Amino acid sequence: MTSRGASDVVDLRARALAVLVGNHRAGYTVPAEGLYPYQWCWDSGPIALGWAAAGKWDDAWTELLRLLSAQWASGMVPHIVFWESCDDYFPGPEVWGTSHTPPTTGITQPPLPVSSAARLFVADPDRDRARAMLAAMWPGLVAWIGWIARARRGPHGGCVIVHPWESGMDNAPCWDAPLEHAPTASDPHLERRDVATVAAAHRPTDHDYRRYLGIVERLRAAGWDTEEQAAVSPFAVEDVAFTAIAARAASDLGQVARDVGEDPAPLDRFAAEARAALTALWDDDAGWFRPYDVRREAPLGPLTAGGLVAVWAGGVDAARVDRMLERLDGWATAAPFGVPTCDPTAPAFDPERYWRGPAWVLVNWLVADGCARSGYAERAEQLRASTLALVARAGFSEYYDATTGQGIGGHGFSWSAALTLAW
Ligand code: GLC
Repeated sequence: MTSRGASDVVDLRARALAVLVGNHRAGYTVPAEGLYPYQWCWDSGPIALGWAAAGKWDDAWTELLRLLSAQWASGMVPHIVFWESCDDYFPGPEVWGTSHTPPTTGITQPPLPVSSAARLFVADPDRDRARAMLAAMWPGLVAWIGWIARARRGPHGGCVIVHPWESGMDNAPCWDAPLEHAPTASDPHLERRDVATVAAAHRPTDHDYRRYLGIVERLRAAGWDTEEQAAVSPFAVEDVAFTAIAARAASDLGQVARDVGEDPAPLDRFAAEARAALTALWDDDAGWFRPYDVRREAPLGPLTAGGLVAVWAGGVDAARVDRMLERLDGWATAAPFGVPTCDPTAPAFDPERYWRGPAWVLVNWLVADGCARSGYAERAEQLRASTLALVARAGFSEYYDATTGQGIGGHGFSWSAALTLAW
């Protein structure tokens, strides 16, 4: 590397750390100032890795501990923890009405923080701290996986999400069909705050928002019973990416269990079942993994990045990975700044609208890491380099137009900065 290159890297790292520091609150990190003013569940996973990569181990562990301190008695970890009251975000705690302390939403997100806890445990140079932090978190981590394994299993043994927001890929076009069957919000007036700071063309539509809120109303009316949501929600989808992240979380935790003298058997069992479920979600005609609509018993399209995130689970058959990567290469003509979150040849593809086309640093990182673990080192390196080039050029955006490389959505976005540090 030339010295100019080396100083660019130092500069990028310094800017990434400044984003995290700016978004840091008391013991947790908001995804982006203003737009997302609370703690989000799966964001905490990459954010903790960013703090660790910056050598801020206490902040890394605290991020995860703080999240788990909001865990529900059932083991469910809520998708947002409303640590502070704030007018910048809708729907806030009063819409959810979960009566949980601290106030939280009543749905979850992929259990990525579990894998981050395992990673911190292995990598923390202070072994006493690593053991103490892991011990503090252990019951919560195991209960989280236990709840998913118990309460969120679909017909193929994969994980069921009861709201599009639980996927973390809120308006991915594969949710369109099941969302059309969801009730609309009783109050048609929307208090949306996101479109005050980000162009409406980059965000989910009001049409979708009314249905997101309609599902929230239905789950609230059912009393936020986290054991029953999969049965009562009008939206129930066995999701590929959620299943892959849960499988990997369980196997990462199982590995740690061996190191600390805990029982890995239930974790390993769930990981194996979830991986087997992914196999059942493979669509051999499409050469891609597809989520499954539990209510209408049908696989969902179009092809989205969530299907590719299956590789993060590990253990995906090489012939399948090859087929997906070949297709991904085909997508690069239309969307050279990928990974695009939707097949760019699909009618639903929209280069600027959130999870319907734009590239996201987290998706690239999950795919690259999965590739590296599956023996595709060159592909992993290519994704790492292209993503860092995107970030260096367009900043720590929430997402990027995969056709132009332009940074869009929120700026100063935590996981884009955190994964830059981790990479
Ligand atoms: C958006 C994303 C979701 C993320 C949240 C906070 O809702 O779709 O994945 O967790 O923002 O960053």
